[in-house]
Amino acid sequence: MDTEIIKLSGVSDVSPMLSHAADVIKNGGLVVFPTETVYGLGADATNKDAALKIYSAKGRPQDNPLIIHIADPSDAEKYAYTNPVYYKLAEKFMPGPLTVILKSKDSVPKETRGGLDTVAVRCPVNDIARELIKLSGVPIAAPSANLSGSPSPTRPRHVIDDMLGRVDVIIDGGECDFGLESTIVRIDSDDSVTLLRPGKITVADIQELNISVSISDAVISQLKEGDVAESPGMKYRHYAPKSPVVLLDGDVMSCVEYIKSQNIENVGIIVFSEDCDYVKNEVPSAFIYEFSSRDDELGQAHMLFDILRCADKKSHDLIFAPLPKLSGIGLALYNRLIRAAAYQIIKL
Ligand code: TXA
Ligand code: MG
Repeated sequence: MDTEIIKLSGVSDVSPMLSHAADVIKNGGLVVFPTETVYGLGADATNKDAALKIYSAKGRPQDNPLIIHIADPSDAEKYAYTNPVYYKLAEKFMPGPLTVILKSKDSVPKETRGGLDTVAVRCPVNDIARELIKLSGVPIAAPSANLSGSPSPTRPRHVIDDMLGRVDVIIDGGECDFGLESTIVRIDSDDSVTLLRPGKITVADIQELNISVSISDAVISQLKEGDVAESPGMKYRHYAPKSPVVLLDGDVMSCVEYIKSQNIENVGIIVFSEDCDYVKNEVPSAFIYEFSSRDDELGQAHMLFDILRCADKKSHDLIFAPLPKLSGIGLALYNRLIRAAAYQIIKL
């Protein structure tokens, strides 16, 4: 199919262009749109045929449910059974990069929610995303707009690489602000929450509301054969670059020693800004990917998927990356990198 690309940067009145994209959604078409986390591949969440088109455009298994995007937290009432904990979370974090799993109402077709009796609800803060949802007049079902198995798209170029010819419209809204997908939580019957996917809204952020948080095992560990994934997406090998990735747990000097000892011909190394010169000098044949400064986890989140996509094009024999912390936004970085690395960590 022909894909229309709508470029919004530099346009003073974006409404007519967004109205056109909203018409495509209303007519059952596919529109890629920016959010504050990653680009989404959107369709009318209430139209089962439109939802099914998402799965085929992405090459995604139909048992992996979609998030529905709403313009206002209270719109969740129409699609899900809410509760006071939902509103406590919504008041603090919505609009924003938080997705909440709730029991679904019948207004959401089974196709949208991968056959589950729950539905994932998210109210994005990105202006283009919210305006598109409002103009469409329906919730927009949207997974990340990557082909299944490749990193989520955070730059217009990523979306064009994956989705040109597969969707009706791509809205180019520039780089995504955060760069990793939303935090996902499930509200449990005792009013505590379970973290299913870490993101910009951290465990500590949620605990500050006096909500107790447990972390699903699948956030940091590999599911064992036969385990049931609490979030279906966790069972798929996500964020998988074409070259193998290994995470190194050690200071920069021991990492460099280790990398040198391996004598790898075409090696890529993801390096904190302050270490770039040192690593370039020590391993001159390596391709270095600058990963922001060591303490700048927001900067790292913004860079990660772009780095993984760039590295894909270089056919490295091996890619080394530093092991993130298990707290704060580090947990989100850890969760994505550990999957990219197929759980391979080398302790130095
Ligand atoms: O930031 C984001 O969340 C982006 C943007 C576009 O909003 N969306 C996104 O969607 O990352 P997706 O489909 O790539 O990831 C959603 C994850 C999947 O792993 C899916 O299995 C899980 O959410 N999920 C969706 N509905 C669920 C449900 N009812 N119960 C448990 N997990 C669910
Ligand atoms: Mg995804």
